Parts: sequence; structure tokens; C-alpha cells
Amino acid sequence: MCKFKVIGGNKLQGEVWVQGSKNAAFPVIAACVLAEGTSRIENVPDISDVRNILKILDLLGAEYSFENHVLIINTDKLQNKDLSRELMGKLRGSILFAGALLARMRKLKMAYPGGDAIGKRPIDQHLEGFKLLGAKIQESQSFLEIRAPHLVGNKIVLGVTTVTGTENLILVSVLTPGVTEIRLAATEPHVQSLCRFLNQMGAKIEGIGTPFLKIIGVKKLRATNFALEADEIDAVTFCAAAAATDGHVAVRGANLSTLDAPLAIFQRIGVNFEAAGSTIEIKEPKAPYHGTRIVTGVYPRLLTDEQPLFGVLATKAVGETSIHDWIWEGRLGYLKILQEMGAKVEFGDVHRARVYGPTELQGMEIKTPDIRAGASILIAALIAKGQSILYNAEIIDRGYERIDERLRTLGAKIERIE
Ligand code: EPU
Repeated sequence: MCKFKVIGGNKLQGEVWVQGSKNAAFPVIAACVLAEGTSRIENVPDISDVRNILKILDLLGAEYSFENHVLIINTDKLQNKDLSRELMGKLRGSILFAGALLARMRKLKMAYPGGDAIGKRPIDQHLEGFKLLGAKIQESQSFLEIRAPHLVGNKIVLGVTTVTGTENLILVSVLTPGVTEIRLAATEPHVQSLCRFLNQMGAKIEGIGTPFLKIIGVKKLRATNFALEADEIDAVTFCAAAAATDGHVAVRGANLSTLDAPLAIFQRIGVNFEAAGSTIEIKEPKAPYHGTRIVTGVYPRLLTDEQPLFGVLATKAVGETSIHDWIWEGRLGYLKILQEMGAKVEFGDVHRARVYGPTELQGMEIKTPDIRAGASILIAALIAKGQSILYNAEIIDRGYERIDERLRTLGAKIERIE
């Protein structure tokens, strides 16, 4: 357990580098299980969720080293082992071992995955898709058993567009004989990274980046080298922190092609910035920010993970900001904390709220809710009057690498207390 002590009021200044993508790291690591040999993955964020997923690899008999963001994995001695609640329950990304083990071993037994408390997190679409490829599934209260001695390609139309569901079905289909089509597939940058990695391993995936994926099964894949893209949510987090503190920060190493929706919202709010090459330079505001409409969706729309970062900016914006996040029913909980800090918020249903600004926030003691709400509250603490303490700050460490250190180099008054 650790906490962050934050004293608000400093404008952030300087430059910061964007970390490698958390949500691309999980499917790419799981994909390494599909081939024998040694894979080398660069730009892997050193965050606790990645460390936890490596524990699963460890149990499965894979050998790895992870230093300076380079992950080297050898899966020659892979074994099929039951995955316990203790391993699976630490994060959501663990569910990707379902697709990977089904493809390589044709059977698996695992506990249900964990993840942030942001709403119900069903896996029915993953399981329906596996069944359409020929898998037999047995579910009990605590374990999931899947067997598929014979898999055959099929057409899968997802009932709900799901990120890890799409990734799981891709992981199985690449080694499934015949042609698999995944319709209404997720198109997020991390799903695209997985597809590119798999194609480099010898898979045949067409339609990357579209909701219509066509996968022609191959017999074997080979280990390869790959570099993860920049984490788009990390980039937006530092942009939001800079903008909220009226700071001047160059956010470097971003992949601008993945940031159309959040950058368009920064523009609508009136954030003063320039984006070119791989840098977003947030500058001191020329005029007060103004309220806007924030609606999340499937990529390339605004990611739900980026929504809480705009909620905190809304407290500084003049007028009304309406927020509609239909993806998770627990994604507006952070607004209750902002309300306690002094924000003016009107709640509709669990998916809708309105923030009226500008309001001054007051520092307070807060229990960190989940990774993204945690980042939003941390930004709130940076602009609040006085001191805030964020308890359970290790929840933020699950997704952000050394966020306290990076903010400190920008001039934030933040201290980690173990
Ligand atoms: N859904 C179903 N059935 C399913 C799967 C999902 O109904 O079988 C619904 C969910 O209830 C939700 C929607 O579909 O309403 C989208 O869920 P999705 O499956 O896409 O979410 P996920 O794959 O569990 C990933 C990210 C999350 C991110 C969501 C949405 C990873 C490891 N996690 O979760 O990231 O919020 O996609 O973009 O990739 C985070 O990084 O902090 C985080 C929570």
C-alpha cells in the first residue's frame, strides 16, 4: 500500500516522455505463447500490471527477462497449467491467456479475470466466439474450462464490440484452420498492434484497424521482434495535467495518429496547444476554457479510459460540460470525488453527468478508485487548494509508470509515501 501526498497549485512545466502502451502489452505478451522460440518486445511499460502478467508466463514455464523496457520471452518449455484466482484476479488482461492457450494447447483451465471496479465486466462475447470456432466450455463459480481438440474457422458477429474479446478471438483464429471473420471487431490501437505483431509472426490477418477482420488460419507461427506503440492514454493524461495546471509542457513520443478524438476535445475546450511530429506542446491558456460535450465510444471515438481526464478539466471550464460514457456503468464515480472537492456536478443516470464550471477545488483525503479515475483525481489534487492525500496510490501504478516521478520533474509537489 502506498499513498501520494500532493500540494496543489504549481503550474507544470518542462517535457515528459510517453510510456509504451499498457493495453497493447497484454495481448502482445499473450501472443508470444503462440510460437516456440524467443520474442523480443521493446517499449514495454514497467508497470505492476505487466509484472503481474509476467507471473502467469512464469507459471506456464516460459522464461523471460525484463529490463529497461525490453522484454525477452522464450516459450520453448511451455506447459499447460491451471491459472489460479490469485494470478488471474489481479488484472483484466489475464483473460487473454484464454485465447492464447486455446490456440497453442487446445485446452485450458483458469479462474475468472480481475480488473478495475468500473462496472460489470462480462466475458460472454469471448466465450460465444470460442464456441463458434468449435470450443466446448464448462463454467463453474470459480473456474472456466475450455477444450477444443478441433477448431474450425467461422464467421463471428460480436454482439457487443469488445476490446479483449476481439483480441482473444484473434489469438485463437490465427492458428485455427480455415477462415475466420470477426465482424464489429474493436479497432483500438492496441488491437491493431496485436494484429501487426501476429502478422509479423506469420499470421494472415486482413482488415486491421477496421471492424471487419478476416483471418486465414496458419499451421505455425514464429517468434519475432516488436516494439509497442506509445500509450495514447498516458499521452492524454499528461496533456490534461498540463492544461489543468495552466502549465507549459511538451509531451514527447506520442503517436498523434491515435489521438484525433482527444485532441479535438482539447481544441473545443480552448486548450492552447500545438501538435506536430510526435510532440504535443500544451501552452498556457490564452483565454478561460469553456464547457463542451464529451461522449465516449469505440475507437476512433474518445476512449472511455480518457473520459475522466476531461471531467477534471471541466471543473475549470466556463459553463456546462456534458459527459456521456455508455461503456462502463462505474466510470463516472470519480465525479462524486470531484464534487466533494468542490466541483459542481449534476448526475443523470450512471452513464451521464453535467459539470458546471469554473469552480475551485479543495485538497482532501481520497481513496484511489481505479487506474483512470485515479489519474483524474491526481490531476484534481494538482490544481486543488492545499494538500491532498491519495490512498491506495498503487492502483495508479498498475497502469502508469512512475507517474509521481514524471510529474515531479514537471514541477508538481507530489511525494510517494510507502
Ligand atoms: N462487454 C460485454 N460482453 C463481453 C465483453 C464486454 O457485454 O463479453 C461489454 C462491457 O460490459 C462494456 C463493453 O462491452 O460495456 C466494452 O468492454 P471491453 O470488453 O471492450 O473492455 P475490456 O476489453 O474488458 C479494455 C481495456 C479497458 C478499457 C476497455 C474499453 C484492456 C486490458 N482493458 O477492457 O482499459 O476501458 O477495453 O476501451 O485492454 C484501463 O486501461 O484502465 C482499462 C480499464
